Amino acid sequence: MPHLFEPLTIRNVTLPNRIVMSPMCMYACETEDGKVNDWHLVHYASRAVGQVGLIMVEATAVQPNGRISSRDLGIWSDEHIEGLRRLVDIVHTHGMKIGIQIAHAGRKAEVPDAVAPSAIAFNSDYQVPKEMSQEEIRKAIKSFSDAAQRADQAGFDVVEIHAAHGYLINEFLSPLTNERRDQYGGNSDNRYRFLAEIIDSVRHVWDKPLFVRISANEYAENGNSIETYTDYARRMKSQGVDVVDCSSGGTVPYPVKAYPGYQVNYASMIRQSTGILTGAVGLITEPTHAEDIVRNHRADLVFIGRELLRDPYWPRRAAEVLNAKLEAPQPYKRGW
Ligand code: FNR
Repeated sequence: MPHLFEPLTIRNVTLPNRIVMSPMCMYACETEDGKVNDWHLVHYASRAVGQVGLIMVEATAVQPNGRISSRDLGIWSDEHIEGLRRLVDIVHTHGMKIGIQIAHAGRKAEVPDAVAPSAIAFNSDYQVPKEMSQEEIRKAIKSFSDAAQRADQAGFDVVEIHAAHGYLINEFLSPLTNERRDQYGGNSDNRYRFLAEIIDSVRHVWDKPLFVRISANEYAENGNSIETYTDYARRMKSQGVDVVDCSSGGTVPYPVKAYPGYQVNYASMIRQSTGILTGAVGLITEPTHAEDIVRNHRADLVFIGRELLRDPYWPRRAAEVLNAKLEAPQPYKRGW
């Protein structure tokens, strides 16, 4: 059995294989209500038929002003639960697991009233965000745990906190975007506090697998490096985070040189130094490459993004290349 197709049990959830659909915003809501529609059902269900072991639903906003665009999915109200439950049920029908990435866009929100740890715009195309008050910080933290509670009610198997790519949590973590002088800024401990409090409040209401996506390298001078994030990953582990999903960049405008597997080293280093499970992501398109990552213990999960947009049945292709046997979905069996 190829390692890519070995199940993995995390807490009370067994993922059928190591392939994860990386969270990818579709900006496909028909109105500004943030609700699941037919597009989302077809889009995610196709990957479940394709045997993606864990489907991570795109960045889903915990507050209306935390949306990247007005067409983002939302989880800021109880009214979102019903549509999300349909999405969960349809993926479960095909035997696959489903997670949701809960997110706040911070200063990168392209909807009114953007907020951030400090009033610094991403670049001149973006609005200058309002510096968050202590009360707004408290509310934002609660909105993440409310979101996790709703994710539980909808039946999700995994919650992923989006702490990468220059969105709100990353803005608190990074010295490039956080100039606060209160307990949420000023040094590495303080910059971690916002995420720490989010993790604690989410863990209070969510006992299933918890992932955190990070930008393990912020690239720009004086930004957080892999060393900082290794320290943060150690803290996350002690707080009950199960998987660190290792992406990079997006914190400040900075060109990133991407090549196949360009972020795998971060997953590998954090895994080795801290013993936490990790996910690797970034230009992983070849089945043998994905198999190499898991087999050589560089990461426990392989997140596939754009290749799964091109080919929703990528795991079936990978199974063929790696000589793994996958069951056909029941309705296809006669013609398989
Ligand atoms: C993304 N990415 C992304 N990342 C994330 O954490 N939350 C998100 O909602 C999105 N949205 C998104 C939309 C689209 C259209 C793309 C192409 C990408 C990043 C994505 O999850 C992944 O990390 C990168 O695309 C790199 O992996 P691939 O595509 O090279 O496999």
